[in-house]
Amino acid sequence: MKFQTPTGMHDILETDLVYFRKIENVCESMARFYDFKEIRTPILEDTQIFEKGTGQTSDIVEKEMYSFKTKGGDSLTVRPEGTPGIVRAYIQHGMQNIPKPVNMWYMGPFFRHERPQAGRYRQFHQFGFESLGVEDPVIDVLIIQIFYNILQSLGFKNLIIELNSIGCAQCRPYFKKSLTSYLRSRSASLCADCKSRMKKNPLRILDCKQEKCQMIKSSAPQVLDSLCSGCHDHFKSLLEFLDELDLPYSLNPYLVRGLDYYTRTVFEIMEETDDGKQQGSLIGGGRYDDLIKTLGGKPTPGCGAAAGVERIANLMKQRQKKAPTETTQSVFVAQVGELAKKKSLKLLEDCRRVNLPVGHTLHKNSLSSQLRVADQQNATYVLILGQKEALENKVIIREMKTGKQSIVPLESAAKEVKKKIK
Ligand code: HAM
Repeated sequence: MKFQTPTGMHDILETDLVYFRKIENVCESMARFYDFKEIRTPILEDTQIFEKGTGQTSDIVEKEMYSFKTKGGDSLTVRPEGTPGIVRAYIQHGMQNIPKPVNMWYMGPFFRHERPQAGRYRQFHQFGFESLGVEDPVIDVLIIQIFYNILQSLGFKNLIIELNSIGCAQCRPYFKKSLTSYLRSRSASLCADCKSRMKKNPLRILDCKQEKCQMIKSSAPQVLDSLCSGCHDHFKSLLEFLDELDLPYSLNPYLVRGLDYYTRTVFEIMEETDDGKQQGSLIGGGRYDDLIKTLGGKPTPGCGAAAGVERIANLMKQRQKKAPTETTQSVFVAQVGELAKKKSLKLLEDCRRVNLPVGHTLHKNSLSSQLRVADQQNATYVLILGQKEALENKVIIREMKTGKQSIVPLESAAKEVKKKIK
C-alpha cells in the first residue's frame, strides 16, 4: 500500500519553503513598521465561532468546514479562516481595554473542504492583518496599503485593487429588497445555488461565477446607490485617501465577498498578467464592524484582510527562474582522515559559538570532492583540517577566490575566519 497526502493537501518541500520564508520575512518587517503584533491562535476553535462569525449562508460554513465532536461532546472546527479566531482572542483577553486600534497579524495553515483545483487547496496557508477598534476609513486604507506593499516587495507588478462598499445593517436591507425584486422575475434563469441564495442571502448572487448568473447580475441594481449617508461618507473618504496615496483601485459594484460578517468596505487584490487575464484573488478583506458584537464582545469596529500564501508563492515560483537566495554559509569546513573528522566536529561547534554559519560534508573523505561542494555553495573561505594539521592542532584557512592559504591554531580558527568575513 502506498500512502499519499490527503486530497487537496500537500507536503511543502524546501524548493517551495524558500518562497514561504521570503513571504513571512516580508510580512514580519511590514508588521514591525506598521506596529502590528503577531498572534498565534489554535487550529481548532468552537464550531459556533464560524457559524456565527463567518456566517450560516457562507460557502465556508454551508459546505467547507472540517467539524467534529470531541469525546467530551464539544463541537470543534479546524479553522477555515482566521478572523473569527482573532476576534475571539480579542474578547477573551480583554483587549477592549487597551488603546485602540489593536493591530494583529498572523500566518499559518487553514482548512476548507473545497473541490481541489489550481490555486485552491484543502489545506492552505494565509497571512492576515487585522485592526480592531477604529471606524475611521484611514484604517481601511492602511490595511490595503500594507497588503499592496507586501505584494510589491515580493516582486508583483500590475496589481489591481477591486473595491466596493456593501453598506451596513441600516442600509443593506433596502438594497436587498430592491435586488430581490429585480431578481424575482429572473429567478428561473439562475443556477441552482443562486436559486437557494435568493431566500438566504441574495447579495451572494452578485458573486456567482456561473455565466447565466453573471448575465443577470450585469444589469442588477448597485449597492453603492443604496448606501446610507454614514456609509456613503465612509466610502468617499476611503477613495480620497486611496487617491492621495496613488493606489491603483477599480470600483467593482458587484464585489460582495463570500463571508457574512462584512460591512461597508470590501476589497480584493489580484494581479493582471501580461495577456490581461486576472488570476484568482491573492488577497481578500474588508471591514467587519458588527463581528465583535456578534461573537459576544462590546460593539467594536474592525477591518482586515488575508492573503493566500500558496497562490503568491506559486506565482513567484513561475516568475523567478531562481529561488530567492537565503543567507548561505560563506565558510566551509573540510577534513581528511579519522582524526581530522573528530576534530572538525569540535571546529563546527566553535563556529556555532561565534555565530558563524558553516557548510560541511563530514561524511566525505576526499578533499577534492569537499572543495567542489564548497565551490557550489559559493564559500569564500574553507577551513581545512588535513591529517598533518589534525595531529598538530592547526587549521588551514583557504581563500577560495585567490587560493591563498594561512595556517592558524585550531582553537582560534573560528574566531580568525569570522574576523576575515567581517
Ligand atoms: P478569503 O477571501 O476567504 O478571506 O481568503 C483570503 C485569501 O486566502 C484568498 O484571497 C486566497 O488567496 C486564499 N484562499 C482562500 N481559500 C483558499 C484555498 N482553498 N486554497 C488556497 N488559497 C485560498 C478570508 O479568509 C478572510 N478571513 C479575510 C479577512 C481578514 N477579512 C477580514 N480580515
